[in-house]
Amino acid sequence: MRKLSIAIDGPAGAGKSSVSKILAGRLHYAYLDTGAMYRAVTYEVLTRKVEGEESIISMTEKLDMEVQPGEAGMEVFVDGKNVTPFIRTPEVSSKVSAVSAIGGVRKAMVAIQRKQAEKGGIVLDGRDIGTTVLPKADVKIFLTASVHTRALRRFREITEGHPEMTMEEVEKEISRRDYLDSHREISPLRKAEDAILLDNGDLTLESTAEAIISICEKKFPGFDR
Ligand code: DC
Repeated sequence: MRKLSIAIDGPAGAGKSSVSKILAGRLHYAYLDTGAMYRAVTYEVLTRKVEGEESIISMTEKLDMEVQPGEAGMEVFVDGKNVTPFIRTPEVSSKVSAVSAIGGVRKAMVAIQRKQAEKGGIVLDGRDIGTTVLPKADVKIFLTASVHTRALRRFREITEGHPEMTMEEVEKEISRRDYLDSHREISPLRKAEDAILLDNGDLTLESTAEAIISICEKKFPGFDR
């Protein structure tokens, strides 16, 4: 048997990155957090104060972006600098949907993602992995939970760093991002036809990862880990 490529798509706060990290660890696979890549581009757009689609695309095409496994998951380096600590701020979160809707930005990121996934043995999480990046992924999961559950998870995460945000604000921001990500023209967030829908509202991260391993086992008995 060979090593699998596993696509985990779904809306913000569904626990994709935490579950993907656990899953990749259990299977000894690589892990690619594609949202972190769009966040890194957005961070550069904000810090360099780049405006207008054309300029954003040309900046993105020139970025030297590298991803590496780090202690707390995947780390993103831009032009040699580790930008991971700066990509989850409310400023980046509120701008990332707009930046990631730009076709030229997506084209550049998808090329890197496909290259990383070439050899299999990888878990990718994002919005368009099963539909666009790897339409032939071995296993596709669409991970979701109610807006309230997802907002509550994000609220707990965010308020550690930004205690000024209220639960209501976080829920609004999640709904806004759901809307933008699923209504954009290019590669909108949607479940691939052959993806398995997994609502993890009542599951822990560990048991969500377990459920995905069972799905892999069922489809590819004895698959390589
Ligand atoms: O998973 P995340 O919340 O860190 O992703 C941040 C944003 O990046 C998300 O709102 C939409 C965008 N994104 C995307 O367009 N395509 C992906 N494959 C992953 C993320």
